[in-house]
Amino acid sequence: MDHKLIEQAVKVLRDGGLVAIPTETVYGLAGDAENPQAISKIYAAKGRPANRALTVHVAGAEAINSWAVDVPPVVKKLTDAFWPGPLTIVLKRSPRAKDFLTGGQNSVALRCPSDPVAHEVLKLFDEGKGNALAVPSANSFGKLSPSTAQHVKDDLGLKADGGSVDLILDGGACELGIESTILDLTGEKPKILRLGALGIDKISSVLGCKVLYGAEANPPRGLKNYATNHTLEIVAAEYLAGKTQFLARHFQTFGIIAPQTIAKRFSRVSEKAFGYKDEKDLMLHLYDWLRQLDGLNIKKIFVVPPQESSEVLDRLTGACAKKD
Ligand code: TXA
Ligand code: MG
Repeated sequence: MDHKLIEQAVKVLRDGGLVAIPTETVYGLAGDAENPQAISKIYAAKGRPANRALTVHVAGAEAINSWAVDVPPVVKKLTDAFWPGPLTIVLKRSPRAKDFLTGGQNSVALRCPSDPVAHEVLKLFDEGKGNALAVPSANSFGKLSPSTAQHVKDDLGLKADGGSVDLILDGGACELGIESTILDLTGEKPKILRLGALGIDKISSVLGCKVLYGAEANPPRGLKNYATNHTLEIVAAEYLAGKTQFLARHFQTFGIIAPQTIAKRFSRVSEKAFGYKDEKDLMLHLYDWLRQLDGLNIKKIFVVPPQESSEVLDRLTGACAKKD
């Protein structure tokens, strides 16, 4: 990307404006983490409740100690292994992380994205002082996260078109297409608050201990990854035929996301069937396919998860929940 555009974006951000930036996970809506006006613009643009904290995006691990205190030694291991990348770490906040940013919570979520455009913006904004950006996903509250610049344009919109974003940096489609994994290190045991692009096994192998997840972790309500307008049902391959026949008998249409061989078999009875090659392929396309199916006049979306992958299933079960 032209460096002039990066400079322009940083100027907008320093002036308290909002810039949509690509990250390797999803597009984010960036504003100066220390500017209360910028932060309130983010909440207004997304229509997001003010008690939902924003993640602070930093240029590198050096900035951690300026935003967090009592940082456990294991954080260095994690950042060496996964930063820049799709891991968000929740730590005890320093005085620099104000209430307006953390929703009054005593903790702060930190992430260092690997996308080159996001990285350049953050590096220039940092100024060697740990200056950082608050960056939630660039969607309105309750909608799917955007994985292209066009998604942001369609949802939040540019100011010039009556929307709320001053500038959108188009870095192409996001590499991963789903959000970062959020790891909370403020409790006695590490726990996953949101399972995203980074798998639990990878995290626990670096930590050298078990990581709490799901019911064990008691995650805050609503911390989920997907939300569709149509009802979404996760169904094992062997039940798909029965379920779809039932709908067809009632003249109700549906869409399908399934392994390629299955999707092919159901392509004629369904309104639209997307087939994926493997787990990775599914992750990459999931948001886009859900978005496309959501745009069709159908009754239901069926998703057949990959075999033997409870993680993908876990990520999918959030599909009916409200997004932020
Ligand atoms: O991949 C990502 O993480 C993307 C890209 C843009 O970086 N960002 C993202 O942000 O997904 P957002 O705001 O849509 O989701 C972050 C979640 C929110 O549900 C928020 O409530 C939670 O993280 N969160 C933020 N700070 C927190 C904290 N201190 N403690 C617990 N949860 C926190
Ligand atoms: Mg979000």
